[in-house]
Amino acid sequence: MSLIDAARKVRENAHAPYSRFKVGAAVRAASGKVYVGCNVENAAYPEGTCAEAGAISAMVAAGETRLTEVAVIADCPRPVPPCGGCRQKLAEFGEASVSVTLATTDGAVEQTTIGALLPGGFSTEDMARA
Ligand code: THU
Repeated sequence: MSLIDAARKVRENAHAPYSRFKVGAAVRAASGKVYVGCNVENAAYPEGTCAEAGAISAMVAAGETRLTEVAVIADCPRPVPPCGGCRQKLAEFGEASVSVTLATTDGAVEQTTIGALLPGGFSTEDMARA
């Protein structure tokens, strides 16, 4: 199954009763294994989590910390743009060159990279003097 198909499938499990905006994400880790996540909302709105965060959590919980490919999908007017927080989370675990596929459920696709999604992002190197 392609990474975007894995994201499409897990999106169906999203818990999004408040926004009604279901998102699915899939990441391929250095081992080649695929980890998936969907958004999980909460009645206490700020407690909700994004699909990308779920996929990253699954990867880290399985003992992996490097991702090599990312896919995100939602029912959106344009290929779903990851939120700012998720861009930072992806950058924590993937090189700037890592490919990110953004998609809509009706077939529009945009190909980008972690670096293009978060130019000038804060990283561990910025703490070199700490
Ligand atoms: N959402 C994601 O899961 N990923 C994103 O990158 C954009 C937003 C979710 C969070 C919330 O459950 C819903 O979409 C509406 O913001």
